[in-house]
Amino acid sequence: MPRKKKLEPVEESSVNPAIVQEKGENIDEDLFKEEIFSDEGTIGQGGIDNEGIAEESTQKKKSSNKKNESEETTDSDAKMPLVDELEVLNYNIQDLPGVGGTTTKKLQEAGYSTLQAIAMTPPAQLQDDCALGEKTCEKIVQAAREALNIGFQTADVVWEKRKSIKKISTGSHAVDELIGGGVESGSLTEFYGEYRTGKTQIMHQLCVNVQKSVEEGGMNGGALYIDTESTFRPERIVQMANGQGMDYKKVLKNITYARAYNSDHQVILVKDAPRIIAEHNIKLVIIDSVITHFRSEFIGRGTLAKRQGVLNLHLHNLHRMAEIYNIPVVITNQVMSKPDTLFGDPNQATGGHVLAHAGTVRVYLKKGKGDERIAKMIDAPHLPQGEAVFAIHEDGIKDVDE
Ligand SMILES: Nc1ncnc2c1ncn2[C@@H]1O[C@H](COP(=O)(O)OP(=O)(O)OP(=O)(O)O)[C@@H](O)[C@H]1O
Ligand SMILES: [Mg+2]
Repeated sequence: MPRKKKLEPVEESSVNPAIVQEKGENIDEDLFKEEIFSDEGTIGQGGIDNEGIAEESTQKKKSSNKKNESEETTDSDAKMPLVDELEVLNYNIQDLPGVGGTTTKKLQEAGYSTLQAIAMTPPAQLQDDCALGEKTCEKIVQAAREALNIGFQTADVVWEKRKSIKKISTGSHAVDELIGGGVESGSLTEFYGEYRTGKTQIMHQLCVNVQKSVEEGGMNGGALYIDTESTFRPERIVQMANGQGMDYKKVLKNITYARAYNSDHQVILVKDAPRIIAEHNIKLVIIDSVITHFRSEFIGRGTLAKRQGVLNLHLHNLHRMAEIYNIPVVITNQVMSKPDTLFGDPNQATGGHVLAHAGTVRVYLKKGKGDERIAKMIDAPHLPQGEAVFAIHEDGIKDVDE
């Protein structure tokens, strides 16, 4: 591995980290219960329509690797690159030992055009995606990790990396405070709750707010919205943008929308997302809702293990995307009612343990009085449990007293 490497600009990154694999998983009691009582929750429309899928899936992946004429060099051992730096650095994958023209071509054709994408992908997945040998993939991934100095690091370096994390405001200061300042880049955040609790409204608001400056609670970028329930409404974006005094035409242009017609299509869209992220300066990825198609397509106990395997891989790919691009990935999820609950809230998030462990931050939404809604912090690695009240107004998500 050469210590000094030439840097190359990321003209267009088309990482393609996802591939569907069937994975066995032990099914626990909760999952059986979920299947049995799945009708209790709100299930989005399960209509399967293949129109448009072929077009989406055959979109050609472009990859480019223009040479940077500048003689800029860096010493990869000098210091651990921060997440922000990882975003802009793009070492030439041909610098990796044993990676020649043919291997580079295979990697790029499968969408692996940056070292970061290779380093964060399991070798087995790289093997499936690129039709390369097992040993070759292990070596490539290992070399990419060494080149980026990914491995053990001291906590002060982790702390430095955490400082590069950005947050997008939900529109409500109370909810922002509850979740540590807003939805966090590099993390997977899940909002789950019953129908009409404001999940979709928050997703719309985030699409508007991401476009603001960092000082105003945004990330100066666009949003990628994957809609599985056909509930995205540009009218709401217009109302929310007007509410913030923003030019709604510009705001609409900065939201890239895709309707996912079934779970396969949803997985394909996420595989194609890195190309869109690079082309459209995307700083936020949303899936509303992540579970709808999986719940309606995998019916019966016999399919549960397969469903959880596919869902698990899908969620891992989303999480990895958040880390590679240092952007927030936000998903919504439904609830099912547990009829055997004697005390307390009978609602439970769907998706079983696979979803419970996937998100970095989990927020439960409940109805309050009138237009008020309650957000409850369920799980976060660094935040206390707590609740916040917010309101859904015509001009967007607000604090109750606004
Ligand atoms: N223009 C508007 N002005 C005020 N409130 C609105 C407006 N549009 C929607 N709402 C509120 O948002 C609610 C719908 O919330 P939302 O669509 O986010 O629900 P959800 O949690 O996504 O539900 P589901 O599980 O059915 O997808 C409406 O019932 C209404 O209270
Ligand atoms: Mg919704």
